[in-house]
Amino acid sequence: MNLLLINGPNLNLLGKREPEVYGHETLADIEASLVQHAHAKGASLQCFQSNAEHALIDCVHEHMNKVDGVVINPGAYTHTSIALRDAFLGTKIPFIEVHLSNIHARETFRHTSYLSDIANGLIVGLGTLGYALAIDALIASQTK
Ligand code: DQA
Repeated sequence: MNLLLINGPNLNLLGKREPEVYGHETLADIEASLVQHAHAKGASLQCFQSNAEHALIDCVHEHMNKVDGVVINPGAYTHTSIALRDAFLGTKIPFIEVHLSNIHARETFRHTSYLSDIANGLIVGLGTLGYALAIDALIASQTK
């Protein structure tokens, strides 16, 4: 099974950025441990991060029919991007939306997601464990 992890804007700053909200691990550390996690379960995991909306959309397009599922933390584009929503609608790639923080316990503008209602699943507030659980869920959905 081929999986893709996508992280959106400002997630390249993990480890430095508001560590009380997002934790102390860097994105490189998180990606390395998730690649191992996926491999241990017989799946491959590619990782991509960008601060640019168009680059995230291009990444989704490029992986149409090439990956079996996507784990995405769209960062702030969660709350703004109809274009990213349309990329998932257009490619029909199954995806799980992950947020490190509990977006529903934060500012009101973070309570809205343009992706949640079309996602296969949603994990919020569990820190980096959420990414691993999302990978497990995609793997489990294939073996059902
Ligand atoms: C986030 C939550 C978003 O509201 C925020 O803009 C982020 C990170 C999270 O992982 O908790 O960049 O997606």
